[in-house]
Amino acid sequence: MSLQEKITELRKVTLTKLSEIADEKTLNDFRVSVLGKKGELTDILKGMKDLANEERPKIGALANEFRDELSRLLEAKKEVIGQAVIAQKLANETLDVTLPGKKVAKGNRHILTQTTEEIEDIFLGMGYKIVDGYEVETDYYNFERMNLPKDHPARDMQDTFYITPEILLRTHTSPVQARTMDAHDFSKGPLKMISPGRVYRRDTDDATHSHQFHQIEGLVIDEGIAMSDLKGTLDTLVKKMFGAERKIRLRPSYFPFTEPSVEVDISCFKCGGAGCNVCKWTGWIEVLGAGMVHPNVLEMSGIDSSKYSGFAFGLGQERIAMLRYGINDIRGFYLGDARLSEQFIG
Ligand code: PHE
Repeated sequence: MSLQEKITELRKVTLTKLSEIADEKTLNDFRVSVLGKKGELTDILKGMKDLANEERPKIGALANEFRDELSRLLEAKKEVIGQAVIAQKLANETLDVTLPGKKVAKGNRHILTQTTEEIEDIFLGMGYKIVDGYEVETDYYNFERMNLPKDHPARDMQDTFYITPEILLRTHTSPVQARTMDAHDFSKGPLKMISPGRVYRRDTDDATHSHQFHQIEGLVIDEGIAMSDLKGTLDTLVKKMFGAERKIRLRPSYFPFTEPSVEVDISCFKCGGAGCNVCKWTGWIEVLGAGMVHPNVLEMSGIDSSKYSGFAFGLGQERIAMLRYGINDIRGFYLGDARLSEQFIG
């Protein structure tokens, strides 16, 4: 067989084989087996050296033509195989890009947590520390150390859940006052603390009462602390929480652990004092209880009440949040209904 015939024959066989190839790897191996260094065409062309001089260009041209043609066909085949692979993939996939996406629900801090943290920030800014107390407390700290001995009638205001006669669910955050005073070293400076947490009372639940709610206790003890310090502190708190135009009003009240004791009102943030449904047409809204720490309470912590004095206050986060956001049923805070909490993204 002449070289020309060999090339023609190779071309025929090659084109037939090529038409049968259906995957990229076989196609690549095939290309190498024909056009590669040890390929069939290369092998045939080794016979060129035995040709007469005038024959060589002819055979060379023929070989080049074949190489070019095959290269083109290989490229085209590669493209066809690539398209087929994509078509196959698409056929196997069930992704419908026109479907609406899945909404990722973003978590959010509870409105009471937000309120607590906001108040914490205000007091941290005034140099207070934040102290944790116990929700399961002793009668001793919850009542006796708060100047409420066993037979004290004011205990009735805070009837609670007893675990044993001496252990109960705390009725207020005030026992943290005694625990913090006990632990404080006054040679290192004054005591300034707040203590947020959950408290319990055997109340009947209704729109404004819950047997379980939240308070923030505040306590400052130092030499020379006066009622004006309490007033200035609460004024700052109220202005930051309810607006710079708010005023406070102190009304005489009674708590066994403070003397004198006060209820603190703020001027109504809705009507500004003119009278409306929020302030029940009085112009004022009661927000918290406070007073000067009773000398008995100081003395029970071993603090010399002739040298040291202090103030304390207790506020309820539920009440603050209900007033601020116009929430009219306290039970909404505890139901876990996202329709309420989603309104307070923060
Ligand atoms: N412990 C009181 C209550 O729960 C609030 C209070 C705290 C009042 C501190 C005065 C001083 O009603």
